[in-house]
Amino acid sequence: MILLAGAALRDGDVGLHYLIDSASARNERRLIAADRHGGCSTWHDETGAAPDDSIHVSGHAPLHPLDQESSMNISIIGAGNIGKVLARRLVEKGHAGHAVRIANSRGGASLQAVAQQTGATASNVPDMIANADVIVVTIPLAKVPQLPKGLFDNAKPSAVVIDTCNYYPRQRDGRIDGIEAGANESRWVEEQIGHPVVKVFNNIYAAHLEGMGKPAGTAGRIALPVSGDDPKAKQIVFGLVDDIGFDAVDTGTIADSWRQQPGSPVYTADLDAQGVKDALARASKERTADWKATSASPGTFDHPA
Ligand SMILES: NC(=O)c1ccc[n+]([C@@H]2O[C@H](COP(=O)([O-])OP(=O)(O)OC[C@H]3O[C@@H](n4cnc5c(N)ncnc54)[C@H](OP(=O)(O)O)[C@@H]3O)[C@@H](O)[C@H]2O)c1
Repeated sequence: MILLAGAALRDGDVGLHYLIDSASARNERRLIAADRHGGCSTWHDETGAAPDDSIHVSGHAPLHPLDQESSMNISIIGAGNIGKVLARRLVEKGHAGHAVRIANSRGGASLQAVAQQTGATASNVPDMIANADVIVVTIPLAKVPQLPKGLFDNAKPSAVVIDTCNYYPRQRDGRIDGIEAGANESRWVEEQIGHPVVKVFNNIYAAHLEGMGKPAGTAGRIALPVSGDDPKAKQIVFGLVDDIGFDAVDTGTIADSWRQQPGSPVYTADLDAQGVKDALARASKERTADWKATSASPGTFDHPA
């Protein structure tokens, strides 16, 4: 608790800018974030055990090497609502040295305005994989199979792939048989791209991601659930979530990630860390009719079918 209070005071010193300039301070804050969220609330849906609601601030969690670097190469696939917000927020971490690239399916030349708006570098999808530390996939779910085959084959072994995608069968995506048959959404994404993912940023509206971030330690700070099978990858994601103004709560593995899908209690609810833990524990695995395709799917967001 003493460490957490220290972080809040330091953040307060820089006003609304909850960025910490010195590398040592930055690492200390990452350590706090890791300790607060690292693994302590993980559970498996096989056991049905309730999450551990304690928040540890012990200060002994080891940091992943990337956490100790001052910069990461971050590549964002998708330049829509979420891609642009993430690009802008991560570029604002510029003094920390993140190099942010953004791409769509039409090539970098189509993204000059987005590059100007966000400060990210417009790029082409195939060109921004090889040296990326973090790759964000943030496109309509049904378009994921259209990504170039083998796209992630030349990714660094340590690359963290973030999946923000949601299944909107009746509004946008149409029927996806694997998901309708019971695959959770991020598992299906993993199968399409042939790479493990960390699921995050899927349960918050883009506008809220843009405007509702707060300094660490702020009472009621919104928390985002994070699922993934690789603890090191999740540690990196916890740091990014914290960087852009949110707490992170560990949902568990990708097998558990249905707890944060559309229709779940945590979805678009803007809850704080305890609220997220409670909501994850309340989630039901059943996919309700609102989130299943019909024979007329897809309709539109105004007229779902
Ligand atoms: N909007 C939200 O508030 C929100 C919140 C949380 C999660 N999500 C989820 O996050 C994902 C992105 O949502 P969004 O609202 O940002 O979508 P969006 O505004 O529709 O933008 C989608 C972006 O993906 C690009 N794209 C489509 N197919 C592509 C491909 N094959 N390769 C590369 N880029 C491609 C599009 O550009 P081109 O078509 O020009 O290529 C566009 O830039 C969705 O799965 C959504 O369900 C959205």
